[in-house]
Amino acid sequence: MSESIKKAIFPAAGLGTRFLPATKASPKEMLPIVDKPMIQYGVEEAIACGVNEFVIITGKHKRNIEDHFDCAFELEDNLKKSGKHKLLKAINRLSNINIAYIRQGYALGLGHAILCAKPFVKDEPFAVILSDDIIPPEETLLHDMIKLYKKLKSPILALQQVPMTEIHRYGVIAGVKELEGVYRINNLIEKPAQKNAPSDLAIIGRYILTPDIFDVLEKARPGKGGEIQLTDAICTLLQLRPVYGFLFKGKRYDAGDKLGYLKATVDFAIKNPELSAEFKSYILSVAKQISTDKL
Ligand code: UTP
Repeated sequence: MSESIKKAIFPAAGLGTRFLPATKASPKEMLPIVDKPMIQYGVEEAIACGVNEFVIITGKHKRNIEDHFDCAFELEDNLKKSGKHKLLKAINRLSNINIAYIRQGYALGLGHAILCAKPFVKDEPFAVILSDDIIPPEETLLHDMIKLYKKLKSPILALQQVPMTEIHRYGVIAGVKELEGVYRINNLIEKPAQKNAPSDLAIIGRYILTPDIFDVLEKARPGKGGEIQLTDAICTLLQLRPVYGFLFKGKRYDAGDKLGYLKATVDFAIKNPELSAEFKSYILSVAKQISTDKL
């Protein structure tokens, strides 16, 4: 089996119910953070780590993901003629990458979405990127996980410490610390009640998986919410081989949730060179109004 990670799966066939009605007819993954759709941040993150084959799992109302990563002749022509070279470069940046699309007919869960990618992955380890978990480009999470994979040659899940009041929203691990920031996982619970959570270490949207997960997913039964859960499949995999967690201490935005999405938008706008100065003074004026109860 290959040691380097060259393939990445982007599951993007979920219903996005937390963003309804915005996601009624268009995908959550295409919601912009400032001027790029969420999924583009994930694709750029993977490219920066040497991934060169991508599969996006799409579903109903997801065609504009394909259009986004395709050429747009009319628009390109228009930008060329009007001398908007910077914008032309921006829209063309990703149009020559190798992306396959697989349709998940029914949103049967994240585990099922991953299983749909089996013909693409074949016999190689691969990354899974949930693009509504936004990791800023200066962070090295995926890069560090890929490096760790070369050493451990086992599945690795990205973990983050989360407040216990939020633990019920995540898959949560029980594990033994083996190295600084690396846990050998011995149990996983999907969305536990606070009192049942085995730790405060939550699984976040970056995984390195090995193809043996497909055998487990093929036999998986629907779990929490009637969905084929990736967490349940990894839990079964734990009986068969070591699985590790990598503790990420950097910045991450849960942009699949409205508040996380707004936080990402504000922080990315503050860091955007074209917007930064004016946006910061706007934010300061808003903060002042809030502090004097005028907003
Ligand atoms: P979420 O748990 O965020 O679900 O899925 P969701 O449907 O996207 O959003 P909400 O919770 O209803 O608001 C995690 C990831 O798994 C993908 C989603 O697109 C998202 O990237 N997913 C989920 C699938 O591809 N297929 C599924 O059947 C379920």
